[in-house]
Amino acid sequence: MATGTAPGKVILFGEHAVVYGRPAIAVPVDGVEACATVRPGEQGSGIWLECCNLPAAEKGREGCYYPIREAPPGDPLCVVVTIGLTHMGMVTPPEPDLIITISSTIPIARGLGSGAAVATAIIRALATYLDYPLSPEETSRLVFEVEKIFHGTPSGIDNTVIAYQQPVYYVRGEPVELLKVSNPFHLVIADSGVASATREVVREVRQHWEVERVRYEALFDGIAAVVRAARESILKGEWRALGPLMNENQALLEELGVSAPALERLLTAARSAGALGAKLSGAGQGGFVIALVEEENIISVSKALERAGATQVLSTCVSSYPTSGSREEEKG
Ligand code: MEV
Repeated sequence: MATGTAPGKVILFGEHAVVYGRPAIAVPVDGVEACATVRPGEQGSGIWLECCNLPAAEKGREGCYYPIREAPPGDPLCVVVTIGLTHMGMVTPPEPDLIITISSTIPIARGLGSGAAVATAIIRALATYLDYPLSPEETSRLVFEVEKIFHGTPSGIDNTVIAYQQPVYYVRGEPVELLKVSNPFHLVIADSGVASATREVVREVRQHWEVERVRYEALFDGIAAVVRAARESILKGEWRALGPLMNENQALLEELGVSAPALERLLTAARSAGALGAKLSGAGQGGFVIALVEEENIISVSKALERAGATQVLSTCVSSYPTSGSREEEKG
C-alpha cells in the first residue's frame, strides 16, 4: 500500500493581489492534513474511490465507495486521478485495478487549501504506488491543472505551498522562492464558521477591479509593498515586525471589500488578547483569520477567539522544514 499526505495552508500576506501579479507569502499548516492511500483491487475491478472520511462537499458524488467508471463527468476526485495517472503514463483503458482511499481533516471552504491538499495527497499516493518519481514542481503543476478546473482563475499559490510543504514567496509565473524562516514564529488560526467560496469572492473582486481599476491597482500595489516588507522581516528573523504588517494588510483587504463583520469580531478579540497582529486569510468574506502570537500567548489568544465565536481554533509554528508527504508500506 502507498500513502500520500498533504498539509493545509494559510496565506500569510498578499491574497487577491497575487491573482493580479503581485507577490504573496503562504505557509503550510500542521495538524490538519489530507491523506490518500492506494492499494491493489481485485483483478478486473478497475479503479474504486473510497472517501467516507472526507467532508461531504469534497466527495465526488452521493455515496462514498464507487468505481470511477460510474462517476458523473467532472467528478473532482476522478479528475485528479485521471490527471495524475495520465501524467504517469497510465493512459486508460485498460483501467488499473486500484482502491484509492481518501480522508481529510482540513476544513473545507475556509481558505485552508482543502481541495489542493486532497489533490496533492492523491497524486503523491499514486506516484509512490507506481514508483513514479514526482518532484514538488511537477506535483504543483498537476494540482494546478485541477485547481484551474474547479476554481476559475487561481493564482497558483495554493498548489505551490502545499506541494512544496514549505513557506513560499510566490509571484505568478515566476520560479517559486522557498522562504527561509530565520526565526520560527507562531500563528493562531481561527474559523469564523462562515463558509466562503474562493471562486465567487475572486470573481467579485474582478468585477470591482473592472469598474474601479485605478483604485484597485493602487490597493494591490499597497499590498505588494506589505508583502515585500514581510519577506525582509522573515528573512532577517524579525518576526515581531510581521504583526503591524498583518494589520496593514487587513486594512487593505477591508478596502478591497473582502472582509466581513464575523471576521473583524475575531480580529479585535485576538488583538485585545495580546496578538501582535491579525488578518483574514484566503479569499475572505468568511473562512479563517490568522493571528501572530508569542508562544506563551497561544492559549489565551485561542480562548479569546473561542469566546468571540470561532468554531475551530488551530495553531501552527511557521518554520522552514522540508518534508516529502509520501511513504510506502508493504507495497503489493
Ligand atoms: C486563495 O487561497 C487566495 C486567493 O488569492 C486566490 C488565489 O490566489 O488563487 C484569494
